[in-house]
Amino acid sequence: MNEILIEGKRLRLRRANMTDLNYIMTLQYAPENLKFIVPFDKAYHSEIINSDGSEKLDVIIEELDTGQAVGYFMLRTMDKPCIEFTHVIIGRKRLGYGREALKLLLKWSFEIKDFHRVWIDCKDYNKIALRLYESLGFVREGFLREILLTDGVYENLIVLGMLDNEYFLLQER
Ligand SMILES: CC(C)(COP(=O)(O)OP(=O)(O)OC[C@H]1O[C@@H](n2cnc3c(N)ncnc32)[C@H](O)[C@@H]1OP(=O)(O)O)[C@@H](O)C(=O)NCCC(=O)NCCS
Repeated sequence: MNEILIEGKRLRLRRANMTDLNYIMTLQYAPENLKFIVPFDKAYHSEIINSDGSEKLDVIIEELDTGQAVGYFMLRTMDKPCIEFTHVIIGRKRLGYGREALKLLLKWSFEIKDFHRVWIDCKDYNKIALRLYESLGFVREGFLREILLTDGVYENLIVLGMLDNEYFLLQER
């Protein structure tokens, strides 16, 4: 039985199970995604999937119509009051799924799970993701200089966050 977090118009977010492991690894290592994330290995994801889900969660984004997986989130640091969206990856891009899935995840985080703060970090040159996060109401909070070393190149991260009161204000508009 798959544990469903939340459903929207086109998408459902559900907890990943072991049959999703290859999909998660394939998405992470696809070149168009890999350059924007820091991947984790199979053992790490197996541990998350087999855990009680209170600290970390792998989440599959799937189409309601077809039941097909279209992306994946990894959630971490779920020690209230905060939750970190660690991985945001959409396999079927440019269909509005990224925006819809993030809206659902924000709704789940603030309205169902009562988190006070959601945060995310993003490479500074990932313009598409940054624009998407900011358009959803995330605020830039910090700039971590040369915190990653990727293939011999230092990279910067931008930290973005959203507080519950900011989220609920946006819902009133
Ligand atoms: C970033 C990502 C999650 C967006 O998912 P998506 O489903 O393709 O995005 P959507 O279709 O919902 O589009 C969201 C917005 O981004 C824009 N966008 C998406 N891809 C784009 C592209 N290649 N070029 C320009 N704009 C783009 C869309 O036009 C849309 O803008 P709008 O809502 O103002 O019209 C997806 O591109 C992805 O998985 N990227 C690789 C991994 C990654 O970067 N993850 C984030 C790490 S912090």
